[in-house]
Amino acid sequence: MTADETHASPRSLNALVVAGARPNFIKIAPLMEELRGRASFHSRLVHTGQHYDRAMSENFFRDLGIPEPDINLGVGSGSHGEQTGRVLIQMEALLEEQRPDVLVVVGDVNSTLAASLAAVKLQVPIAHVEAGLRSGDRTMPEEINRILTDAISTWLFTTEADADKNLLREGVAPERIHRVGNVMIDTLLRNLARARKLNTLEDLGLEPGGYALLTLHRPSNVENSEKLQALFAALEEIHRELPIVFPVHPRTAAAIEAHLGGSQPALRNTEPLDYLDFLRLMADAKLVLTDSGGIQEETTALGVNCLTLRDNTERPITVTEGTNTIVGSHPDVILSETRKILGGESKTGRTPELWDGAAARRIVDIIERDLRSAL
Ligand code: UD1
Repeated sequence: MTADETHASPRSLNALVVAGARPNFIKIAPLMEELRGRASFHSRLVHTGQHYDRAMSENFFRDLGIPEPDINLGVGSGSHGEQTGRVLIQMEALLEEQRPDVLVVVGDVNSTLAASLAAVKLQVPIAHVEAGLRSGDRTMPEEINRILTDAISTWLFTTEADADKNLLREGVAPERIHRVGNVMIDTLLRNLARARKLNTLEDLGLEPGGYALLTLHRPSNVENSEKLQALFAALEEIHRELPIVFPVHPRTAAAIEAHLGGSQPALRNTEPLDYLDFLRLMADAKLVLTDSGGIQEETTALGVNCLTLRDNTERPITVTEGTNTIVGSHPDVILSETRKILGGESKTGRTPELWDGAAARRIVDIIERDLRSAL
């Protein structure tokens, strides 16, 4: 044995983690905790600045204990091309400078694709967390982001069996696909007890099971004035029987101004809520109405009925095993499906396999094993 070998300790692995928009922050929280908890990793966090308001960004870092970003790219809003392009240009420079061993990206937002595109050209291996989800609807910007990010990633970490099948169908080598569970559910399980202690319901004058919770922000629902008006009319009718709490996404607030002349829907409208308040409201709602992706999974984990106001889902396990029902955005269907739940016909589900709070640990274990064996 040489002196060099006696003193050799494995060098630390450099991970660069990227987050840009609200749903990303919830997913990186357990990953950052896992990475920072291991002496074997040196990890840095990049915030692209796609979401920048206190309510859409800063409060999530505070509540979920996510470390301050090491780098903030400050890209802000813009068209898809502008937003993606700004992240791409800045990420390329950053990756050139830092040369990490792995780039970790989550979900399907513009920042996810842009950072991945910069990395693949510089031969930085990409770990995509929440890979393989497909709605089959290429008019959704997120669907394009998913397909392209998966095509260039080295590790594809999936949440459900359908995602594995989608990737195999697209020709991904099986050894790149790892079903590990769901990091968003890691975060939910870690924070549920804290959320339950909050006075969110009391402050809004609500009783457990005595209200519905609504979120709406997809361009397909909010960027068309007739559709938006019809949706609100149906929701207002429900609100007369069961109060609907409606935290309004900035895109939707802008659409209400642009398409409805600023005339607010007669619901319990609020600003975007913090993670813990929103979790408290979801956990005790009679039902949740949403066009979000993540909320379909969170309600399944909580066993709360969810009506998805879209024509498809990229998360089919929430329908086959969970509490989710796809209802589209036709007002009559929304009304009849809601009335079924109010009449006692609610859906009972079970928590999908591996949605157990340990997804981040599995992901970091696999990355560490593979990077070490390649060194
Ligand atoms: C993005 C993601 C979507 C995710 C959603 C959650 C893409 C393609 N879409 O959509 O997958 O479900 O985030 O929120 O990446 N705005 C603010 N303050 C903010 C952030 C945005 O006012 O902190 C405004 C911007 O002016 C913008 C609008 O909200 O015009 C929409 O933001 P944008 O980042 O374009 O996408 P989202 O619709 O939020």
